[in-house]
Amino acid sequence: MTDMAVAPEDLASLLRWYVDQGIDEAIGEAPVDRFALPPPAPVAAPAPVAKAPSRPVAPTPLRTSSPVSPPAIRGPVPIESPKLIEDARALAESCNTLAELEAAVRGFEGCALKRTAKNTVFADGTAGASVMIVGEAPGADEDRLGKPFVGVSGQLMDRMMAAIGLTRDGGFYITNILFWRPPGNRTPTLAEQAVCLAFTRRHIELARPKVLILAGGTSVKAVLDTTEGITRMRGKWVTYRLADGTELPTMPTFHPAYLLRTPASKRLSWLDLLAVDKKLKELG
Ligand code: URA
Repeated sequence: MTDMAVAPEDLASLLRWYVDQGIDEAIGEAPVDRFALPPPAPVAAPAPVAKAPSRPVAPTPLRTSSPVSPPAIRGPVPIESPKLIEDARALAESCNTLAELEAAVRGFEGCALKRTAKNTVFADGTAGASVMIVGEAPGADEDRLGKPFVGVSGQLMDRMMAAIGLTRDGGFYITNILFWRPPGNRTPTLAEQAVCLAFTRRHIELARPKVLILAGGTSVKAVLDTTEGITRMRGKWVTYRLADGTELPTMPTFHPAYLLRTPASKRLSWLDLLAVDKKLKELG
């Protein structure tokens, strides 16, 4: 057999390729082929027709190696369901302060993303500030540090907000619709979004900003429950109505990660932030 030693530079370039594809975390000791079919269950011999017992029969202990045992579950199973979304909503509604809500989110086990995330990423900045920003989902840096928007796109967001005089220290409060990083930054499923959104809606109610900023198409679609794309939505004020009827002026804007890829769009985002600044001055 030939020696198949791989040159270190080839390994390094393979790793770089993984990272470019978003595969930047090892979450198991061995790879799992999620497309593999489960092994066919052995066919059980036909059971003889039983005579009705004349007296009660002790239950047969369940044998896990029995030919009729259910197929083994391969890998994580999705755990969100309409019932879990209802549970999340009821739990969120029972919270009367941001501290209670944070504790409820941290203790919640109904979102599959929590199983692969390192940290729960709840919020950062100043609770009660006049501006609240809702982004999409934590990335690798946020997952590691347990805070939203601390990677490169968060740093761009901070610089843009600072340009209208707002910092995390008193000027704005920041969170995401998801509290856990989707593995490899994959797009969160609608079920994962729905479970987290139950908490995020309560989050907005309890934080009660004067102005809401929705950063990125996923956040805009989820919070405003629309199918309209971010390119059409950005830069135009819309209203987000709280449960008590309060109307929050809401500005959809591009996600900073998009701006990093498409710097020419920064000009449009700057206009969005100038509109936010103007609105805050009007609201006093
Ligand atoms: N992108 C987001 O939407 N949120 C974060 O916290 C980081 C990156």
